[in-house]
Amino acid sequence: NGTTRTERHVAAIDQGTTSSRCIIFDHGGAIVAADQREHQQIFPKPGWVEHDAMELWTTTQAVVAGALAKAGLRADQLSALGITNQRETTVLWDRATGKPVHHAIVWQDTRTAALCADLGGADGQDRFREITGLPLASYFSGPKAAWLLEHVPGLRRRAERGEIAFGTIDSWLIWNLTGGIDGGVHVTDVTNAGRTLLMNLDTLQWDPSILSAMGIPEAMLPEIRPSAEVYGTAVGQLAGVPVASALGDQQAAVFGQTCYGVGEAKNTYGTGSFLLLNTGERPVPSKNGLLTTMGYQLGGERPVYCLEGSIAITGALVQWFRDQLGIIRDAAEIEPLAASVDDNGGAYIVPAFSGLYAPYWRADARGVITGLTRYVTKAHLARAVLEATSWQTREVVDAMYEDSGVRITSLKVDGGMTANGLLMQHQADVLGVPVIRPVVAETTCLGAAYAAGLATGVWQDLDELRAHWKRDSEWTPRMPVEEREREYANWHKAVERSLGWTD
Ligand code: G3P
Repeated sequence: NGTTRTERHVAAIDQGTTSSRCIIFDHGGAIVAADQREHQQIFPKPGWVEHDAMELWTTTQAVVAGALAKAGLRADQLSALGITNQRETTVLWDRATGKPVHHAIVWQDTRTAALCADLGGADGQDRFREITGLPLASYFSGPKAAWLLEHVPGLRRRAERGEIAFGTIDSWLIWNLTGGIDGGVHVTDVTNAGRTLLMNLDTLQWDPSILSAMGIPEAMLPEIRPSAEVYGTAVGQLAGVPVASALGDQQAAVFGQTCYGVGEAKNTYGTGSFLLLNTGERPVPSKNGLLTTMGYQLGGERPVYCLEGSIAITGALVQWFRDQLGIIRDAAEIEPLAASVDDNGGAYIVPAFSGLYAPYWRADARGVITGLTRYVTKAHLARAVLEATSWQTREVVDAMYEDSGVRITSLKVDGGMTANGLLMQHQADVLGVPVIRPVVAETTCLGAAYAAGLATGVWQDLDELRAHWKRDSEWTPRMPVEEREREYANWHKAVERSLGWTD
């Protein structure tokens, strides 16, 4: 079709919680083609969530093939490949056979809650916070690996002998893409390593004291590398393409939204929502329930840090409203249903389905619906579902201000729920600042592509990438302040009621 290598296309793989995607971008950062496939969610027990890591690899290969076919491109017409991924999800595999030793344990899985409480001991949740920036919570990878070493027979001995590899999904994919048992490289990047509870935020290396506290043999860990750098060359259908970036999906969205300056923030609305604020070249400790986390590190440069407000359930509440309650048949129906009434009718829903993440970090919280009277209809509940997302976001924005002193003046947004104009208006209303969505809302893949393109000379610098960012829609605050503060107080009363439901 006349496309030549000189047009410099970059591909990105986004291996997410519910699906895998491959998007091919042109030199201007526009989407040329995309392919996507869902994979199985495995729920062996309440609170447990697993993925079949082999299936993640095969669906990833399928979407790469699909995107190349749709674009009418051959692998040798790609200048680089970038990787972005669901974070924290943990896979251990046998280096000799290439087979996972167990299903991957997904970030949402809560099986390690007791293990984390034991590890915390007298110091509690903050035992490793100074070193890692994170509270001890079941969300992170290290305790998941410790659980596997404890529960898969014979695994610890094999791991100590160096026969087993640990990886977050970036490592698993890069190892397979670059040859697997025939010489695959075993690496991870700082943004993914920073979510294990095992990495020292200052040295960007595995922390020996934490490895020994959790009983994790160093022999199984990947090498920690910058987020944008050529790690190796792909084999197979992408033979010859440099694998040139890895970033956790939320950090990739920061990069794709071009939040390169201190004080710039983005919020991605997916299964959950993750708001990250660029705090520059130094980690800012949180006293208000946020995570101190890596933003990105370009090869040879100093790392950039972020404060993160992680919300476990936002889009997943709409799915629950659709699948478990059956009030709507399609997620898109929630907007007209919610818009059919003027307000929430006094109802509030706190979706603490896996406890509450930021800023509370309460494993004992469970979901509640409060404020019910006979007046409340399914339309009011639909509104309460959407409002739960904006109030949870307001809470993390408040925590960001307390921690950093940075008051955001606008919020860049992306992800599936940003198609919901009613929600975006409410978000602007409760934050009191404009909410802005870019033209390319696939910022996760875009960020991975940008990083890979920078590492291989497709793009020269951050200014060139900034110039690609274009505004699509903007919502400005309209709600009167008194109404906003009254509603926020009601939200807090509802949150109080969700706490302390389990031991
Ligand atoms: O920390 C979890 C996050 O990375 C998951 O993102 O978009 O795959 O649900 P997503």
